[in-house]
This record gives sequence, structure tokens and C-alpha cells, in this order.
Amino acid sequence: MRSKITVIGAGNVGATTAQRLAERDYADIVLVDIVEGLAEGKALDLDESGPVVGYEAHVTGTTDYSATADSQIVVITSGLARKPGMSRDDLLQKNREIVWSVTKAAAEQSPEAIIIVVSNPLDAMCHVAFEASGFPKERVLGMAGVLDSARFRTFLAWELGVSVRDVTGFVLGGHGDTMVPVVSYSNVAGVPVRQLIPEDRLGAIVDRARNGGAEVVKLLKTGSAYYAPSAAVVEMVDAIVHDQKRILPCAALLGGQYGIDDLFVGVPVKLGSGGVEQILELDLEADELEALRTSAGSVRELVDVMSGMPALA
Ligand code: NAI
Ligand code: 2OP
Repeated sequence: MRSKITVIGAGNVGATTAQRLAERDYADIVLVDIVEGLAEGKALDLDESGPVVGYEAHVTGTTDYSATADSQIVVITSGLARKPGMSRDDLLQKNREIVWSVTKAAAEQSPEAIIIVVSNPLDAMCHVAFEASGFPKERVLGMAGVLDSARFRTFLAWELGVSVRDVTGFVLGGHGDTMVPVVSYSNVAGVPVRQLIPEDRLGAIVDRARNGGAEVVKLLKTGSAYYAPSAAVVEMVDAIVHDQKRILPCAALLGGQYGIDDLFVGVPVKLGSGGVEQILELDLEADELEALRTSAGSVRELVDVMSGMPALA
């Protein structure tokens, strides 16, 4: 039997994720949105692409969670997107309510699923999904590090005029202004980037990666990035469906690693069919570790703000 993957939110990230997954052709997709007809229309359009592109995956569009029953993976993209001038954190209250309600509905239908959260503010929304689902921590994680690292890798590759495939780079921490592009673990075909790029240029690349989301928002004027975000989600889904044991930067619930406890923060994770199968502790340089803890502090602030908000049922 084919796997079933649910994508909640049929907006830019959700629909593009559904398209990329359908084209992978290893699972049927259920696309859910609160707007009547939106998911249905996009699903029909995607199904009608199958004969041309050559996939058999079936995409169901719906507002009804019963169609999502027994999904292997649930990707949560529902929520408001960032608008120009709006910080990720402004989204906190509204998206908390949305992520809570969709997680409850999806978890009830698919109690064994692995949840990948995409909605912003990402790390805080992982806490919401974790609490709303009641799932073990291995089965709730967030997508941000793969995207932020892809931006970092892109800019490093452009700087050196080399293939993006040969550039390894990790961006850890919260998905916000304090994220931490880890220069000490970034290399080109094994050569540390510090040996290849002067410090000032490297600093500019780090800054650009940190502001990668805002750079796209500023250009688009309405809405935020979705091609790279959906590609990042699908890399994570591939790792789970095919039990690849990939080492990818994902938001995971830490239990003391890096001196951080009880917080979702972006760290290198071994990702397989069990979800978060291991959290890797890199031997970070002192300033990188401090930056990671500072970034975790900004996630903590959001979690604290949410704890003062009315309880959700
Ligand atoms: P979008 O506005 O295009 O799509 C959001 C969709 O969610 C809309 O179709 C809307 O109708 C739907 N929705 C709202 N409330 C819902 C509910 N209760 N149930 C079901 N569907 C509901 O936004 P886009 O660009 O797809 O972004 C989605 C989210 O992902 C945003 O919060 C955005 O900030 C975040 N994002 C996070 C990234 C990351 O790296 N973690 C990267 C890119 C986007
Ligand atoms: C991004 O980084 C909006 O968080 C989203 O593109």
C-alpha cells in the first residue's frame, strides 16, 4: 500500500510541497485547507498533471480531516505568511490558534504520524504542535534548518563559483534573526570555508543567509518564500519515508543537549522512519555555542509569551 502524506494549508508552501511530493510518486497526498474549494481545486489540478509528468500519486483536496486518516506524515503549513515589515514573531498569536486546531484534528485521525511543522514562528509552533498532539518528542519536528542552510550554501557556492552540491553548511538555532550559520562546520568538498573565503566576505554571507527569508519577502512584496521551503520539507519527508537516516538540521525538542533544555531549537538530527532518531551534538566553537544559546533564548521568550495566552482546548 502507498504511504499517505497529509499537507495542511494549501497556500504557497503547502501546494508546492504537495506538487513536489506527487512528483516523487511514492505516496498519495491529502491537501487540507480551511478555505472551501482551495485544496480541492489545487488537488484536482495536481492530479490532472499526472498523465503529463508521469506520476500515479493521487492528491485529494479537502476541508475534512477524515480523509487524512492513517497518514504516515503530517506537514503543517497552515497559517498566516509574513508580510513586508511584519516580523515572524508578530504571527505568534494567530498562528498558535491555527496550528493548535489543525494539529488536534490531524493527530486524532493519524495517531502514529510524524508531524513536520512549517508554520511560523517555527520553533514556537513546534511547541504548540507537540502539546496539541500529545505525541512523543521523536515524532514532532520543525522545518527551518534545511532551508536556512540551503540559503547559506547557495551564497557560499556563488562566492566560490562552485557547485552547490559540493558545499556543506549547517544553520542551527531558532528560525529567526538569531539563527546561527555554523562556519566551523561549513566546507567545500571537505575544505573549511575559512580557508577559502576572507573573513569579511564570510561575514557578509552569514548576514545574507540570516536575512534570507526577509530578502525574498521584500522582493515579492506579498507573501514569503515557498520554492526553497517546500524543497526543504520534501528532503525531510524523503528521509522519513525512505528511512534514510539523513543528518539534517531540524527543530527538535532538546533535553539538555548544547546546555538547552525543554525547547525546540534547530540542531543536527538523524532523521529516519522513527522521526528524530538522534540529536547530534557538534563540538561548536565557544562563540557559536553562545550564539546557539542566545538563539534558544529568543525561542524561550516566545514560549513564555504563549504560556501567558488563554489556554486552547
Ligand atoms: P499562504 O498564505 O500561502 O498559505 C497558508 C494557507 O493556510 C492558506 O491557504 C490558508 O487558507 C490556510 N489556513 C489558514 N488557517 C487554516 C486552518 N485553520 N486550517 C487549514 N488551513 C488554514 O502561506 P505560505 O506562504 O504557504 O506560508 C505558510 C506558513 O509557513 C506561514 O506561517 C509562513 O510564515 C511559514 N513559512 C515557514 C517557513 C519555515 O522555514 N519554517 C518557510 C516559509 C514559510
Ligand atoms: C522564510 O524564511 C518566511 O520563514 C520564512 O522564508
